[in-house]
Amino acid sequence: METTLVLIKPGGVQRNLIGEITRRIELRGLKITGLKLIRADRKTVEEHYAEHRERPFFGDVCDYLTSGPIVALAISGPNAVRAIRMMMGATNPVEAEPGTVRGDMALSIDDNLVHSSSDPEAAAIEIGLWFPEGTVN
Ligand code: CDP
Ligand code: MG
Repeated sequence: METTLVLIKPGGVQRNLIGEITRRIELRGLKITGLKLIRADRKTVEEHYAEHRERPFFGDVCDYLTSGPIVALAISGPNAVRAIRMMMGATNPVEAEPGTVRGDMALSIDDNLVHSSSDPEAAAIEIGLWFPEGTVN
């Protein structure tokens, strides 16, 4: 049993894709154990993307994540981290397989609709960051 973090980024919320993305996650058999619509603050986003602090896109991606409402989801189930990662598709939507969220609904790396935790260690840190109040079982 694992829990992973999904963020529906501002573009996904703006395009009314909250339902479609959560529908796919639920259909897969994974459980929603945390769910909220929020305006992320800059400090949280910078901590979330701390591993990318030195990368050229760091400022832009932080601006983007704070530019509008996002949905934070905690998703639980067997192998949830890898299962979700595969469902979301490659970082660059042009390379994402059809059938994935990014492969079906996105075209640009600046607006690839979703974040998902890369591994169980990152997932635990990210759940703590976005759900400090805890998740619900
Ligand atoms: O989101 P994911 O884990 O697939 O990718 P990442 O390598 O951890 O990068 C985090 C986010 O930064 C991506 O989802 C993109 O939104 C953005 N990014 C970008 O704008 N340009 C890049 N060359 C790489 C990442
Ligand atoms: Mg990542």
